[in-house]
Amino acid sequence: MTHIVIYGATSAIGQATARAFADEGAHFFLVGRDLARTDQVAQDLQSRGAQATACVLDVLDFDAHQATVEQARQSLGQVDIVLFCHGVLGDQAEAEKDYAAAERILQVNFLSVVSLGGMWANVLEEQGHGTLAAVSSVAGDRGRQSNYMYGTAKGAVSIFLSGLRNRLFNKGVHVCDIKPGFVSTPMTAHLDQGPLFADADKVGRQIKEAIRGRKDEAYVPGFWRPIMGAIRAVPEPLFKRMKL
Ligand SMILES: NC(=O)c1ccc[n+]([C@@H]2O[C@H](COP(=O)([O-])OP(=O)(O)OC[C@H]3O[C@@H](n4cnc5c(N)ncnc54)[C@H](OP(=O)(O)O)[C@@H]3O)[C@@H](O)[C@H]2O)c1
Repeated sequence: MTHIVIYGATSAIGQATARAFADEGAHFFLVGRDLARTDQVAQDLQSRGAQATACVLDVLDFDAHQATVEQARQSLGQVDIVLFCHGVLGDQAEAEKDYAAAERILQVNFLSVVSLGGMWANVLEEQGHGTLAAVSSVAGDRGRQSNYMYGTAKGAVSIFLSGLRNRLFNKGVHVCDIKPGFVSTPMTAHLDQGPLFADADKVGRQIKEAIRGRKDEAYVPGFWRPIMGAIRAVPEPLFKRMKL
């Protein structure tokens, strides 16, 4: 039985990943911002044969982070996987005008992962096993004018995970950076769903495979690796003239 903690448990990608793990029998500790909706996710997983407990946290309430770690440990005992799926796209234009909006994007997407990820890294290090995984984004691979505030936060998450991975490598703890491209979820519902958009269930199954396969970094779907390689290779004098 795999013991899994998921932050952002009501997210479309988090739910899809949880369903993929539920198929093999898992015990979940689900953390969401809204208890009733997190409970619904727990009930859905229970109907699939898993065990699940729901817990409420707004990740902007940094003082409450440690309590979720303690509650999860009490509920699950050992913890095999901690997965961070919460996030906000934010409003780039608003963030350019208003620092408070920019700060919120950084706090939800990045600083909460530093806080919670740091706490969980210490727990897993003490256990001597486990995987810490977070959903960053291809948006973190290069700053683009259309969404560089979100991209900054996600890129910072990737650097943070890289450092944690190096720190924990010899302690039996694995750190997995999951980089989705466009996924059809409530976060992207306002965008035109072009051919690059992936189905959340497919992405959830690929996230499970990446965690099981102890991947350091997983582009989901995999075709985003060459796409982002090409985007990173564009020389800056040319890139700054592109309207991306
Ligand atoms: N969709 C994409 O194209 C895409 C691409 C790359 C990366 N990602 C990342 O994938 C992850 C999952 O996103 P999604 O696409 O599945 O979108 P989603 O369904 O909109 O999920 C976003 C999640 O973040 C939670 N959240 C937002 N602010 C929070 C806060 N202050 N405290 C606690 N939880 C908070 C939401 O809670 P509520 O349900 O209560 O609102 C929801 O569970 C995010 O990290 C996102 O950045 C998505």
